[in-house]
Amino acid sequence: MKVPMNDLRLQHAAIRTEMEAALAQVMANCSFILGPAVAAFEQAYAAFCGVGHCVGVSNGTDALKLALRAAGVGRGDEVITTPHTFAATIEAICELGAKPVLADIEPRYFSIDPAQVARLVTPRTRALLPVHIYGHPADMDPLTELAARHGLALIEDAAQAQGARYKGRRAGSLGLAACFSFYPGKNLGAYGDAGGLTTSDADLAAKVRLLRNHGQDPAKKFFYQEPGYNHRMDGFQGAVLGVKLPYLEGWNERRRQLAARYRQGLQEVAELVLPAEAEYAHHVYHLYVVRAQDRDRLAAALKQAGIDTAVQYPHPLHLTAAYASLGYGPGALPECERACSQILSLPMFPELEEAQVDFVAEQIRRHYRG
Ligand SMILES: Cc1ncc(COP(=O)(O)O)c(C=O)c1O
Repeated sequence: MKVPMNDLRLQHAAIRTEMEAALAQVMANCSFILGPAVAAFEQAYAAFCGVGHCVGVSNGTDALKLALRAAGVGRGDEVITTPHTFAATIEAICELGAKPVLADIEPRYFSIDPAQVARLVTPRTRALLPVHIYGHPADMDPLTELAARHGLALIEDAAQAQGARYKGRRAGSLGLAACFSFYPGKNLGAYGDAGGLTTSDADLAAKVRLLRNHGQDPAKKFFYQEPGYNHRMDGFQGAVLGVKLPYLEGWNERRRQLAARYRQGLQEVAELVLPAEAEYAHHVYHLYVVRAQDRDRLAAALKQAGIDTAVQYPHPLHLTAAYASLGYGPGALPECERACSQILSLPMFPELEEAQVDFVAEQIRRHYRG
């Protein structure tokens, strides 16, 4: 049996008629950049997250850059974040001339360890940037408390966590601002690059709207309030996201059911550590990540059986060439480094079938039975 990591064709087939009508509408209006479809999605996504504002932007990386800049982060400032993330998190900090300061993760949920963060705050710290990695929210209360105590901006990297909840509240509503990627394979994915920023702060939202459009004054065309960027969302992407949003909760629920089925099939495999869900968390399983000492051998055995897997991510960012200059050598962030050598993402997407999950579990059991 073939089991892919994801198959976007299945999701598209299920919503194709609606999608084609929405895309045709964008063509009829010729509203190719921003426009009514983006505005309607912004409103719907803000309501979904339980905040006052969503600003549609070009991608998740740009959302991070815009959030940090709008929060006042600039040259010489320090931003505390996690090494266990996609490169964009750290890249956005560096792009503003600020310095990423890395706090190790706590190993059960792979997200930043608030106790480590507390030790790294200095007078130069300007922001905290936790990542809801794999779709499981970071432990936000201690970070909120730290941010308040030291006057720091708390910004969520929620790129992998559309619809996740922390103590009942949605990712996207847990800090000063939150940044989403709508990369096609995300739980809520566009048909190309797209991103969004959510916030309850009207001034911050207005600033991001200005910055995403070259700093242009909305009331005075070709008059620039400050240098900005071209980080606008395309009309087509707004339309795609608008069609998909009403399905998101159902798709996330399906991911949770599949995760439960994996757990049922794998709980007796002593060699595996299965994903955990903290009591404060509602996990949306963007990725289903297990840990195994013999990760590479397990991946090879599954490949042999027709099952695709992935490692997200194999190289601790602080040990890659791009970020070596931050000065963290091997052993500096041991929990992250250990995780990178053991993690394996199993197939997870809403259209995955129970029989495929059962097959993956059976092949894993067989691998360990020898
Ligand atoms: C944790 C995290 N942050 C940021 C990003 C960047 O998003 P984008 O690819 O839309 O620029 C991603 C995308 O994969 C991500 O997973």
